[in-house]
Amino acid sequence: MKIIETISAMQSAADEIRLSRKTIGVVPTMGYLHKGHLSLIKVARENADIVIVTIFVNPTQFAPHEDFNSYPRDISRDTQLAEMAGVDILFIPSSNEMYPSDFLTTINVKHLESKLEGESRPGHFQGVATIVAILFNITKPHVAIFGQKDAQQAIVIKRMVQDLNFDIKIIVAPTVRESDGLAMSSRNTYLSPIERSESAVLFAALKEAEYLIKNGMKNCLTIKENMSKLILSKKSAAIDYISIANPITLDEYEILEKSQLVLISLAVRLGKTRLIDNILINI
Ligand code: PAF
Repeated sequence: MKIIETISAMQSAADEIRLSRKTIGVVPTMGYLHKGHLSLIKVARENADIVIVTIFVNPTQFAPHEDFNSYPRDISRDTQLAEMAGVDILFIPSSNEMYPSDFLTTINVKHLESKLEGESRPGHFQGVATIVAILFNITKPHVAIFGQKDAQQAIVIKRMVQDLNFDIKIIVAPTVRESDGLAMSSRNTYLSPIERSESAVLFAALKEAEYLIKNGMKNCLTIKENMSKLILSKKSAAIDYISIANPITLDEYEILEKSQLVLISLAVRLGKTRLIDNILINI
């Protein structure tokens, strides 16, 4: 596995790969790799000749009060995991090179960026869309893999790719879960043992919603009330939002209709840790 740390070296390597008529699959990450990332790498492997993983903890997607400084980082462990997963190139740029002091440009995927996560984390998706566009221009991929766990991120990126005509196929890979249903996330490491055991309630609430819908419940307010009750039965849990929305526009549904595709998503705080999760269901 090659480790590349500069933009120009990465762009030259991508040019060479493209010249040799091989396809590039990129998995953008913020590091602290876990089984969820490894599953994205596997999907990249299945869909491209050369797999690039990027590791960059992107400062512009964190609000000042968020966990940018404490976000877990372990490059030597990540390097080992990436190597074992068969990654061809690990791109680890510096913050100074990614965001020089005269950097001015941002990408806004209007409407989509201000809903759900965007309401709780203003500016987050501007940071995500901008860094992903930068990473696309540096790694020059044919395909890019994102996780369903960050459903809104995948929706925002797909729209950016569509609107700006990036010639890149976006693949959204299924969420990988712990045995009790907790979605894998680097932030799970923040949980205390009690919070960790209570965190299974996120997926349990999503499954409860699915059960109610599959049994004919159509009123989204009632479904959300049932989910809230379950979540708030856990001492450490506080709800940021619960959403039942259209998975393309993110507009909220009030009453569900037959044949609808529905994105049920939530953000819950367990103590100081904020976790998100979602499921997509076809009614
Ligand atoms: O999902 C993430 O890890 C990040 O949001 C991403 C896509 C790497 C952009 O910084």
